[in-house]
Amino acid sequence: MRDAQPKAIQLADYRAPAYEVTDTHLRFELHDGYTLVHSNLSLKQNGDETELLLNGQDLELISIKLDGKLLSEADYTTAEEALILSGLGASHTLEMTTRIYPEKNTALEGLYRSGGMYCTQCEAEGFRRITYYPDRPDVMSVFTTEIIADAARYPVLLSNGNPVSEKIEDGKKHVVWHDPHKKPAYLFALVAGDLQVRDDHFTTCSGREVLLRIFVEPQNVDKTEYALDALKRSMRWDEEVYGREYDLDIFMIVAVDDFNMGAMENKGLNIFNSSCVLANPATATDAAYQRIEAIVAHEYFHNWSGNRVTCRDWFQLSLKEGFTVFRDAGFSADMNSATVKRIEDATMLRTVQFAEDGGPMAHPVQPDSYIEISNFYTVTIYEKGAEVVGMLHKILGEEGFRKGSDLYFERHDGQAVTINEFVQAMEDANDVDLTQFRLWYKQSGTPVVEVLTQYDHAAERLTLNLRQYTPDTPGQTDKKPLWIPVQLGLIGHDGEDMEVRPDQPDFWTEDSQVLHFREAEQTFSFGGVVEEPVVSLFRDFSAPVRIHYQHSQSALRFMLQHDSDGFNRWDAGQQLMLHWIELAEKGRFKFTQDDIDALHTVINDVELDPAMVAYLLALPSESYIAESRPQYDPVAIHKAREQVMAALADTLSDDFKACYQRLNVSGDYQPVPEDMARRSLKNLALSYWAKADAEGVEAARLQFSSADNMTDQMAALRTLVAHGNQAEAEQALAEFYTQWQQDSLVVNQWLTVQCGSSKLGTPAHIRQLLEHEAFDWRNPNKVRSVIGAFANQALCHFHGADGEGYKLLADAVTRLNESNPQIASRLLTPLTRWKRLVPNQSQMMKSELQRIMDHGSLSKDVYEVVSKSLM
Ligand code: TRP
Ligand code: ZN
Repeated sequence: MRDAQPKAIQLADYRAPAYEVTDTHLRFELHDGYTLVHSNLSLKQNGDETELLLNGQDLELISIKLDGKLLSEADYTTAEEALILSGLGASHTLEMTTRIYPEKNTALEGLYRSGGMYCTQCEAEGFRRITYYPDRPDVMSVFTTEIIADAARYPVLLSNGNPVSEKIEDGKKHVVWHDPHKKPAYLFALVAGDLQVRDDHFTTCSGREVLLRIFVEPQNVDKTEYALDALKRSMRWDEEVYGREYDLDIFMIVAVDDFNMGAMENKGLNIFNSSCVLANPATATDAAYQRIEAIVAHEYFHNWSGNRVTCRDWFQLSLKEGFTVFRDAGFSADMNSATVKRIEDATMLRTVQFAEDGGPMAHPVQPDSYIEISNFYTVTIYEKGAEVVGMLHKILGEEGFRKGSDLYFERHDGQAVTINEFVQAMEDANDVDLTQFRLWYKQSGTPVVEVLTQYDHAAERLTLNLRQYTPDTPGQTDKKPLWIPVQLGLIGHDGEDMEVRPDQPDFWTEDSQVLHFREAEQTFSFGGVVEEPVVSLFRDFSAPVRIHYQHSQSALRFMLQHDSDGFNRWDAGQQLMLHWIELAEKGRFKFTQDDIDALHTVINDVELDPAMVAYLLALPSESYIAESRPQYDPVAIHKAREQVMAALADTLSDDFKACYQRLNVSGDYQPVPEDMARRSLKNLALSYWAKADAEGVEAARLQFSSADNMTDQMAALRTLVAHGNQAEAEQALAEFYTQWQQDSLVVNQWLTVQCGSSKLGTPAHIRQLLEHEAFDWRNPNKVRSVIGAFANQALCHFHGADGEGYKLLADAVTRLNESNPQIASRLLTPLTRWKRLVPNQSQMMKSELQRIMDHGSLSKDVYEVVSKSLM
């Protein structure tokens, strides 16, 4: 908590550290109620600066010794959250003891307790809550860690690297770990608890044996198999696709219940939010399995992109996050359907990231200032950052990209580097000038591309006119043109791709079918085009831009049925549906026979991947619809979407019923792509069928009570909540709770279904659930399941006319601001969108933001978001 206005940190102020810490020795004594941390640091001067700044927050300093000599308060100065030693020489040994209080730590940064165990979260700036230290990623050190704790209650004591020694003395267990790889403090980790372990092995490409271990609370041992399987597949994939081998004898994963984010890539000791690692068929949905696969891979891949090569400073965060998301997306695409993965990622980008980029928190992939770094773990850093890396991949091609990544890892192994050095490696390995491309990292906002096409039949020539601009964002105007890769196809009337031969070959990459659009306005022409084609633009979502191009309705129907690019096939369908929803809002919606025919082709296409069919038939979400408009009315969007959904369900109800019956086959549950695909279409069909017909609700009821896996049970529950009557919904929810109340992760799903429901998720119902025995303000997963689900999914209630939804969110933020600022700040996001809402809502949202601001004593996290939103 603070009194004065916090000030922003600027990229331009970066200075190299005055001292390196070559070795870091830590000794933790875990006592009931407090922990003592002893440190011994070997310092080495970098240049000629003689002042050492150690960060520290909420620490009790017990003692400090320099080169063996006890220091008094006169020997150092303390600034806000720092301790400074001046007039130092070339090398020193610094020893300190601090006392900390993990049991009082509700912020879940630094060392804290979750359930009966101790764990740490040090990224980004949590290590400074453990001991005084130069807590910045460009200070990399070799860590040796000793942990001492009650042997009976904490038999498992873990830290980074390899185990060195272990003994029990006077009822205390002493364990020493040594990590030979130097690393920044944000990758430090410690775990202590009474945990069970499941072991496995992996043999690396060079034949080294690695011990793989997952530690969990005893009741969760039967939920560890899938994560281990995903881990082994990730390790193999990184060897095969990136040539990256694992570098320690042991790799550990620990599951904890209280965790602010998804997971953390601590060297050799990844710590996971239990919801992102634990699964068995009865309790986890297919979506959860896929999330686990992706996050296990993500954290593992950080071992190279993040740990071996780390960030110079936090402005470079996307260096590791954007690249690692790109890598995990490649892995998921290879393990499952690449097209479906692309659809999911693009949807996320176009709803959540575009909204961020158009709001008060808009920032470049490489920001140039921040108040609280935790606020910059954003979809822009992660997902847009991954798209930027993806564009490099499109521009350089598979082989060129791999050459660049090899050079990057080789050149910078063991270093803390910048985004610029990453691009430089790509440039050097491929002998290409990426100066203009670098603007993607520096400019915020979503570029708009306007497209005009013209076809000259006599000359058999197609002309493509492209214009680009990027709107102003807070603090950034007059943006320059970007290098935009446009993956392009021309479709003939037979549905086949025609050859694309631009008259400007310098701007065309044949292998990837990419047109390089690099100026504010450019005209390209294509010869030998014998008939007027349907122009398929930005295939595979080749750039994170908004496209302004009006395809005719018939062209969209044609693409929905024929585009060889799965992504654009899906996107054409989405555009059609958006159009229907707009018409419904104006009271003018009615299916044409052509629409129905197109939908029929899709639903009855048994050649197509069922997961793909499910996506083709799913309406765009309410937030996606909202994001497609400059200003929106969530209640009107909800009604219009419901109307189109009802029409779709009625028109195709026989097909949905048949589809459901065809795919509802029995057999053992397996979390494999083919089965997941079948279940996704089956459950989508069930939901439409139930929307249209009481018989479908009956089928959902039956599936709910007979399902042997959570995917089917949860899908049935969702359908009953959405399309059953109130009594049916309530009964199913009650039965579900009785069945699963012992399993916290399942209860979270139960909370989410209700709180995110446009039927049940009213502010009154949410306030009731906040009092429920299953709810706990201290657990971030519970907060997300109730308040997060409400504010991000139950849009018609969150934006209800009386403003109660906004008030509820603001109350929650104010409360969490004290106990867990990171969560408070993240929860706040929906309110920051106030300028995009219709005037009534907009005003009410703004006054809730003001109310939070007036509350005073705001954390940096909440202060930054609220103050920027009100500007
Ligand atoms: N580096 C983590 C990841 O992306 C992110 C993370 C985990 C994090 N926990 C955090 C970031 C807490 C900030 C605060 O894999
Ligand atoms: Zn990450």
